[in-house]
Amino acid sequence: MKQLNLNTEIHYFDTFDEFAAGFSIGKRDLVFTRKAFKKYFEKLENKPIFIFNDDFGKGEPTDSIIDSIVKAASSVDFDRVIAVGGGSVVDIGKLLALRNVTSAKELFLKSIPAEKDKKLVIVPTTCGTGSEVTNISITAVESMDTKLGLADDALFADCAVLVPELLQGLPYKVIMNSSIDALVHASESFLSPKATRMSRMYSIEAIKTIMGVYSKIKKHGEAAARDNIKDLLFASTYAGIAFGLAGTAIVHAMAYPLGSVCHVPHGEANYQFFTECFKFYMERKPEGDITEISYIMGNILGCDSKDAFNALEEMLNSIFPKASLSSYGMKPEDCRGFAESVIKNQQRLLVNSYVALLPEEIENIYKVRYQ
Ligand SMILES: [Fe+2]
Repeated sequence: MKQLNLNTEIHYFDTFDEFAAGFSIGKRDLVFTRKAFKKYFEKLENKPIFIFNDDFGKGEPTDSIIDSIVKAASSVDFDRVIAVGGGSVVDIGKLLALRNVTSAKELFLKSIPAEKDKKLVIVPTTCGTGSEVTNISITAVESMDTKLGLADDALFADCAVLVPELLQGLPYKVIMNSSIDALVHASESFLSPKATRMSRMYSIEAIKTIMGVYSKIKKHGEAAARDNIKDLLFASTYAGIAFGLAGTAIVHAMAYPLGSVCHVPHGEANYQFFTECFKFYMERKPEGDITEISYIMGNILGCDSKDAFNALEEMLNSIFPKASLSSYGMKPEDCRGFAESVIKNQQRLLVNSYVALLPEEIENIYKVRYQ
């Protein structure tokens, strides 16, 4: 049985300048990033080619946005893609290293094959997706009203580079949403039937690290998030290694319709359902692998294992209050439609759930969160 899926070299530099020198960034590189990061490249003698994600619309990627970006990249000549950014930039950057992506929708529906063409370097600028070490790309497919994930080894980066300097300016909200995403990756992958002894080691380290930082935030305030950004960056990569093998499950599956229909950022949408889904697991199957996670979380939170997910919810709400689903424009009647969408479109994730959920149980979790 495969224990771990590490196809990407992982590098670390304290600063961007050290990274640029170490990777000899130059004219044959296509840098796909956001305009806010252009300043870091200004000192370079040999400027790379730039494509800016923000020239193609705001928010998370859609298939039509990807098509426009792929078209722009096909008009320039380069040897290596360097994707510097958050989840959207990284997910699109992976596609820029492929050949003949004539339609993103067709690619995600697997009607056309994913074939690696260029070297790919990924530099995450948030601390959540773990996408720098996975073979997964996610996009919203507008005509299907949901998000689809493509998992293909052609999407692995050659190198992932961790540079905490690039995360220094992140707003507290972004740090929290992205690190909660990483905590969900670590927790869901731990309970996945595909988890192995080795992937669980990365899951546990990520859970301990992220919750350790949350404890510091609770004690010392928001500044502790930025002061410990390096820990959160490493933890999100650990979680990426774990879910790259074992996958994510019901929390991600339920987050996708909300993200896609109400345009809620990925980590924020996961936060909506995280503790509710784990409380459901705990209720339905309190024995088994969940006892290990609830024991670790209970220790950090100073409570009994059986209360761990309630205590986690309370702690998260105290350092980062959760919004109501209605505030995103979701309607009560959407609960059923979202549950149907999960059943129809997210079987890839549902198979990783710790407890199999019936459609009405998924609908009920939406309803509980809606109240
Ligand atoms: Fe995620």
